[in-house]
Amino acid sequence: MAEIEWSPAWSVGHAELDEQHQMLLEIYNRFDAAAARGRGSREVGRLLEALVEYTELHFATEERILAEEGFAGLERHKTLHEQMITKLEGFRADLAAGRRFTADFRKFLGYWWQSHILEHDKDYAQELFGVPPADQ
Ligand SMILES: [Fe+2]
Ligand SMILES: [Fe+2]
Repeated sequence: MAEIEWSPAWSVGHAELDEQHQMLLEIYNRFDAAAARGRGSREVGRLLEALVEYTELHFATEERILAEEGFAGLERHKTLHEQMITKLEGFRADLAAGRRFTADFRKFLGYWWQSHILEHDKDYAQELFGVPPADQ
C-alpha cells in the first residue's frame, strides 16, 4: 500500500491527538516501506515494536482525553482499541516465529489506521470538538 499521508482533513480537533496520529502514520509508513523492501526481520521487527509501543501510548492518551471530556462512546471505542492491540500482539508473535509479513498484512494495518481515524476517531471529534465528518 502506498504511503498514508495525514492531511488537515484528518484532524480530530485536538492538537496532541493530531500530532500522535501523524507520528503513528509516520512509523507505519517506515514499517511498511521496510517490510515491502524485504528488509531483514530485525529491522522490520524493530519498526513493528515501535509501532506497537506508540499505538499503546496513543490509545492510552486518547482514552484519557475521551474520559476527561465525557465521551459517550468511550467503552465501545476502548473495545476497538483493545481489538487492535490483540491483533498487533498476534503479528508480533508471528514475526517472532519467523513468519514474513505479507502485503495483505501490511494493507490490513494501513486500512485499519485509515478507517479507525477517519470513522471512529472522527465520531468523538464531531461530538466533543465539533469537527465535521471526513468526506472520504
Ligand atoms: Fe481511537
Ligand atoms: Fe486515534
